[in-house]
Amino acid sequence: MSCLRMGWSNFRFREKPAVGKIRSQRKTKEQEGHRPGEALRVLISHARIRAKVVEMAREIRRDFPDDTLHLIGVLKGSILFLADLARALGGEVSFDFLGVSSYGKGTDSTGEVKLTKDLDVGIEGRTVLIVEDILDTGLTLKYLLKLFEERKPKHLRVAVLLDKVERRITDVKADYTGFAIPNEFVVGYGLDFDERYRNLPDVCVLQLGSRGKTKNE
Ligand code: IMP
Repeated sequence: MSCLRMGWSNFRFREKPAVGKIRSQRKTKEQEGHRPGEALRVLISHARIRAKVVEMAREIRRDFPDDTLHLIGVLKGSILFLADLARALGGEVSFDFLGVSSYGKGTDSTGEVKLTKDLDVGIEGRTVLIVEDILDTGLTLKYLLKLFEERKPKHLRVAVLLDKVERRITDVKADYTGFAIPNEFVVGYGLDFDERYRNLPDVCVLQLGSRGKTKNE
């Protein structure tokens, strides 16, 4: 059954099967994807994401207790993370969004980062937090940091939900990181494959074909 046609509540997967039911519940950890040959395996459940986002928000607010935090979301993958983070932050928060392209329709970065939508307002003198879904090669973040530093913000910090540490080919680091993850192609909680799966509440590994090959292989 297509995941889109399953109810929202059925869309969640059990991360930790109860003792005694492991054999039968193993099957529930892998679900069919939207299309034949695509399967999803939960890597990080929505409950874990929720708890981590609250923890990250506390840390960020502790560092900037009195500032208006200007959150800059990198479209489109970061929007669910940004929405949850903003609600957990408290205090004064403003948003802006920008678009970059580094991935086309496939899964491998072209290595080239292009600005497809610039910010609506200037960031000079503001406390800016770049909000990214995932740090992979680091090329996108390196590009954004250079671009924004030239615009003279008061502070410039980076929050990423996921970090594929072993894929990094640049020297950039996030100031606030949710989860370090292995080198697997993930979807859900904003992350897509060809614009699909963004609405999954969990972060899942996308597997292709009967051998469970992932998109990064
Ligand atoms: P980077 O420039 O290589 O660090 O790539 C960052 C961007 O690549 C992210 O904002 C995502 O849009 C995309 N990306 C990297 N890894 C994945 C993945 O596993 N799933 C979905 N998108 C990814």
